[in-house]
Amino acid sequence: MLDIEKIRKDFPILKRKVNSKPLIYFDNAATSQKPQIVIDSIVDYYSNYNANIHRGVHTLSQEATNAYEEARIKIQNHFNAEKSHEIILTSGTTHSINLVATGFTSFIQKGDEIIVSALEHHSNIVPWQMLCERTEAVLKVIPISLKGELIMEEFDKLLSKNTKLVFVNHVSNALGTINPIKEIIDKAHSFGAAVLIDGAQATPHIKIDVQELDCDFYVCSAHKLCGPTGIGMLYGKEEWLNKLPPYQGGGEMIATVNFEKTTYADLPYKFEAGTPNISGGIAFGVALDYMNGIGFENIATYEKELLDLATKKLLEIEGIKIYGPLENKASVISFNIEGIHPFDIGTIIDKLGIAVRTGHHCTQPIMDFYKIPGTIRASFSFYNTKEEIDIFIEAVKRARNMLL
Ligand code: ALA
Repeated sequence: MLDIEKIRKDFPILKRKVNSKPLIYFDNAATSQKPQIVIDSIVDYYSNYNANIHRGVHTLSQEATNAYEEARIKIQNHFNAEKSHEIILTSGTTHSINLVATGFTSFIQKGDEIIVSALEHHSNIVPWQMLCERTEAVLKVIPISLKGELIMEEFDKLLSKNTKLVFVNHVSNALGTINPIKEIIDKAHSFGAAVLIDGAQATPHIKIDVQELDCDFYVCSAHKLCGPTGIGMLYGKEEWLNKLPPYQGGGEMIATVNFEKTTYADLPYKFEAGTPNISGGIAFGVALDYMNGIGFENIATYEKELLDLATKKLLEIEGIKIYGPLENKASVISFNIEGIHPFDIGTIIDKLGIAVRTGHHCTQPIMDFYKIPGTIRASFSFYNTKEEIDIFIEAVKRARNMLL
C-alpha cells in the first residue's frame, strides 16, 4: 500500500493552484512532475560542484565526473544492462532513436525492409522514413485492431529475410496499449533483424530488464519518470554500439585527432560528443532511486486502480468513446465525447484546474485510423488520487453539459 498523501508532499508543484483551483495533473504521459529530491540534486550540482566532466584534474571536475558516472551505473543497474558502457546518455528518446537510425545508414541497402508499428509516436516513424529515403529501404507497418492492439498475425506475414530492423514502442503514448515486445523481439531475431524498443511510455510504469528482453536497443527519456527534461538513455548491446558509427563529432568522442585521421573514443564516449547535460544525468540517477524507493510493482498496482476507476466512471457518461479499451494497459485513457471537439473539453476543464492533453498526441496515423482529429488523454501517475478522479469526472460532465 502506498501512502499517497506522503508521496504527494514530495512534489512541490502539487501544492499549487491553477485558475484558483487545486492543480489536478493528469498529463503524466507528456511529462511527469518532479520530486523535491530531484530538484535539489540539480540545485546542489550548480551550487556546489558545477564543473565540466571528464576534462579536469581539479576537484570540482572530479566530483562532477564521479556523480555523472555514478548516475550511469544507477541507470545500468536499473535496466539491468550487462555493461555500463552500453548506456549512452542522450538528450532523450528522440535523440536516441535518431542516433540509431542515422548510424544504420551504411548497413541498409536498397530493398531492405524496416518494420514499424501503426502505434508509433512520430519520433519512432519519421527517423526511419528518413533512413528509408537515404537508403531506398522499404518501410512496412504492423497494423492495429480497433481495440488498439498490434495484429501479430500481420507482423508474422511482414517478417522475411529482407527484414533488417524492427522498431516498436513498449507502450503506446496515445492509447496505453502494452505491446508484446518479447514476442516481437524473438520473432525479429529469428529472421536476423535488429530490434529497437521505444520505452518512453513504459519506463514510468514497468521495471525493464534489457537482458531478459534481449532487445538490441532500448530508449527512454528521464522526464517521464520523475527526472528532468533534456536527458535520456540509449541502451545498446555492446556489439551493435561498436559497429555503429558516431552520431556527432566533437570533443569527448575522440581518442586522437589530427588532420590526416581521427580515431574515436571507446564506448560510451564515442556517442557523447560535447558537454552533456551534467546536472540532468545526475538527477536522472536520483529520479530512478526515488522511483525504486516507491517500487514499480506498487506503482503498477496503484495506477491500475486509478485507471479502472476512471474508466468505469467515464463510461457512465453519455456519448463517451474510449480508444484502445483494453483490460491490460498503462494508465492512459484516450477518449472523446460524441459531438464535441477534444480541444473544447480540454480548455474548459483547464479552467477547473485539470491538466490533460488534447490533440493527436504526435500519433497522427492512429488518429487517421480512428478517423478522428484527436482525443482527450488523461494519464495517471502514482501521485494522483481517487478524489482527483472524482473531480475530473464531474468536470468532464460539466464541460459536456456546457457544450451540448
Ligand atoms: N510524447 C509525449 C506525449 O505523449 C510528449 O504527450
